[in-house]
Amino acid sequence: MAEHAEPPAYPVGLRLAGRRVVVLGGGQVAQRRLPALVAAGADVTLVSPSATPSVEAMAEAGEIRWERRRYEEGDIGAAWYALVATTDREANDRASAEAERTKTWCVRADDAEAATAWTPATGRSDGVTVAVLTGHDPRRSAAVRDAVVEGLRDGSLAAPQHRARDPFVALVGGGPGDPDLITVRGRRLLAQADVIIADRLGPRDLLDELPPHVEVIDAAKIPYGRFMAQEAINQALIDHAKQGKSVVRLKGGDPFVFGRGMEEAQALAEAGIPCTVVPGISSSISVPGAAGIPVTHRGVAHEFTVVSGHVAPEDPRSLVDWAALARLRGTLVVLMGVDKIGAIAAALVAHGRAPGTPVALVQEGTTAAQRRIDATLATVAERVRAEEVRPPAVIVIGDVVTEAPDKRTAPAPAP
Ligand SMILES: C[S@@+](CC[C@H](N)C(=O)[O-])C[C@H]1O[C@@H](n2cnc3c(N)ncnc32)[C@H](O)[C@@H]1O
Repeated sequence: MAEHAEPPAYPVGLRLAGRRVVVLGGGQVAQRRLPALVAAGADVTLVSPSATPSVEAMAEAGEIRWERRRYEEGDIGAAWYALVATTDREANDRASAEAERTKTWCVRADDAEAATAWTPATGRSDGVTVAVLTGHDPRRSAAVRDAVVEGLRDGSLAAPQHRARDPFVALVGGGPGDPDLITVRGRRLLAQADVIIADRLGPRDLLDELPPHVEVIDAAKIPYGRFMAQEAINQALIDHAKQGKSVVRLKGGDPFVFGRGMEEAQALAEAGIPCTVVPGISSSISVPGAAGIPVTHRGVAHEFTVVSGHVAPEDPRSLVDWAALARLRGTLVVLMGVDKIGAIAAALVAHGRAPGTPVALVQEGTTAAQRRIDATLATVAERVRAEEVRPPAVIVIGDVVTEAPDKRTAPAPAP
């Protein structure tokens, strides 16, 4: 006789806000499940003689109520939903039996067959909750969940909205160049944009993945006419936003680190256009890191200072106090300083930094073309000339430069 396949579970979304949920056992299972129950607004009671430090912290923060005792008859019947996850099989069985009698939906961490409910693998993207059940293969559920959530986030899984989305303007920090180093939010907004105004620096590769209807504008090529280049970019943002388009201003690193992001936000605000700012991974930290240089290291540098080197120290337009920087012991990170590095090194030495202070230049960090040149304050100007170092490069000055276990060994590539 043919065996009957088990009927599939019936998926449902429980609206737990303000409703009592009981969790038996304060171990790893509770630690994993409690945040989502709390996020759903459930009124959670944990019954357990002990708990992991994270679960204990949730109780201390008032997110859950913790009763420090073992399961007792009556705990389950009072709840809409129960998670049974103690290490005591016999207690779990009794709790399950109570759940059956009181018709409380009950998840069993130790015995899926004895459960009346299963927890799907869940994820969220842009207001969509994805929940996957495969029966008896939780790894597959997680893999399918990851594929769907990732696809929704990066736009590769088209999910048209029937309710029209309001157009938006976002200043997005794209990170230092490697397309993997943009934030999840930044990537999602890119996938939703109608127009992208992009800088030369940042994750240009991501632009290739966009659907053909998306208009990509190179910020460097916006004609400025009677405006300054920045004003022309501001105007382009305003004009596209006023046409009702969703506009992303994609910038290298973080929008507010030497990125003129605030000027753009102010121009939009003056035009009455709200904008979202999505932080990005700044090259000032990530590019040294990608070349194996920590900007701080215990016992070596307790501070790091990020400065712009786009004007030379003696230039009256410079707002940087190089004499004060020379007196600091910590790490100096100079952006936009390749052309002026000779004058910068000379100023630091003149104000007291040792000429032998290590310096590294990391050109085109996090991209396939990344390279690192090592020098000292005394030799850096000559090394930059000899090695033909070109912008973009991050310059790191300080003892952290020689801190890597073996500075000739680049960090392993990302998996
Ligand atoms: C106008 S600033 C913008 C900085 C950006 N907002 C950030 O947070 O990284 C440009 C400078 O950042 C540095 N830079 C940006 N990306 C870089 C990269 N991938 N490799 C090396 N330097 C980079 C260089 O010093 C470059 O001249």
